[in-house]
Amino acid sequence: MQEIRLQKFMANAGVCSRRHAEEMIAEGKVKVNGKTVTELGTKIDPDYDKVEVGGELIRLNEKKYYIMLNKPSGYITTAQDTHGRHTVMDLVTELSARIYPVGRLDADTEGLLLLTNDGEFANHVMHPSKNMTKVYIAQVKGMPSLATLKTLAAGVDIGDYVTRPGKAELVKGNQNVSTVKIEIGEGKKRQVRRMLDAVGHPVISLKRVQIGPIMLGNLPLGRWRHLREEEINRLVR
Ligand code: URA
Repeated sequence: MQEIRLQKFMANAGVCSRRHAEEMIAEGKVKVNGKTVTELGTKIDPDYDKVEVGGELIRLNEKKYYIMLNKPSGYITTAQDTHGRHTVMDLVTELSARIYPVGRLDADTEGLLLLTNDGEFANHVMHPSKNMTKVYIAQVKGMPSLATLKTLAAGVDIGDYVTRPGKAELVKGNQNVSTVKIEIGEGKKRQVRRMLDAVGHPVISLKRVQIGPIMLGNLPLGRWRHLREEEINRLVR
């Protein structure tokens, strides 16, 4: 087989996304033929070289899996062991392949999460240049005014960053509690919560309902399903 970059091999083998693989290499967690490698340009031949991550031998997966999960609150988005805390992987137990989450949701956020063992797919969906729109439904304190919704859509200073233009819409509400639909093309840490905090309407609960063309639909909370072929095609188009 042709030589490929170590991070690409790890992503193709379903260990994690390419970007996460780069972090793991830089952190010294990856060995090639028994030697720790921290050089990001390292190339390997999957037929001959022995790659170990955290002591485990990595092989290329044949079959690719693409899954959507309706993540409940209280589960951490990680493929790694977290010393007994609930992770999203606890909810996809019936699948024997090594898959990992595409992007992340906060532990206290519910809703649509994609998981895969296809590194190219994960890279495509997560890459900032792809500008994949994500839609969130937030329950917030109080009722945002029209002017506030316009501010949310135009861009909000969330402390260290001004968010890029998106969409914000009041679904329903009263003076105490409202439901707001927020559409953003980026994914800074706790972005939606920080946006709503910044305009004085803290989030009570948050749910992601759409990523690009993929909708959560009526998948029950805590359940997963395989993506349909046309859904995968629409995501990578
Ligand atoms: N924005 C947040 O604040 N939290 C998430 O989990 C996702 C987007």
